[in-house]
Amino acid sequence: MATDDRLTLALPKGRILGELVPLLARAGIEPEAAFAAEDARQLRFATNRPALDIVRVRSFDVATFVAFGAAQLGVAGNDVIMEFDYPELYAPVDLKIGRCRLSVAETREIGERDDPARWSHIRIATKYPRITRQHFARRGVQAECITLNGAMELAPGLGLCRRIVDLVSTGATLAANDLVEIEQIAQISARLIVNRAALKTRPEVMAGWIDRFREAADAP
Ligand code: PRP
Repeated sequence: MATDDRLTLALPKGRILGELVPLLARAGIEPEAAFAAEDARQLRFATNRPALDIVRVRSFDVATFVAFGAAQLGVAGNDVIMEFDYPELYAPVDLKIGRCRLSVAETREIGERDDPARWSHIRIATKYPRITRQHFARRGVQAECITLNGAMELAPGLGLCRRIVDLVSTGATLAANDLVEIEQIAQISARLIVNRAALKTRPEVMAGWIDRFREAADAP
């Protein structure tokens, strides 16, 4: 098979894997066994589909691989899609997995006497500086963002800032760090993303995968 006939699907690492493997199966994709082993060092995986390979990358990097055409298909949360806002990406299917929310949180102590209506300038630790700045700019608040790549729940306790913007699922990480959620910015779920150029140059095969993922997401 010519190299040009192959497709690469970029998938995120992490806890979404448990929901992703059954969804892939419903879409007719069975990765080689090593894919299910999260500690495996392998990054590229064959599948039961001879023309489809999987690469496993960090969730933020899925959007970049697909936007630049290094992968033609990917799975990314709408948090990642919004943060990069790549024009080359099209997100046609809500996969209804990886559900959580993007929220503002602050220390419990501040939360008890804080009035967000009075904010004019706030400092926030987040890995979503673009979404955060836009969100607060809409209501005239200037958000100074300190970009961290993980463990932002530590930042308020260590005096880096008073507030964070991060994903919240069960709320356990916030609670363990004595933080309270004060505002939700967006509901998050994983989406199928595709490279727009690939969609134009290979419309049939790409549309076939979009349909298969849509059916897999809608299956009970
Ligand atoms: C995410 C997020 C929070 C945590 C929230 O991190 O950044 O830290 O999950 O989940 P909870 O509300 O259920 O406690 P994740 O564990 O996915 O790892 P990451 O820091 O690598 O993103």
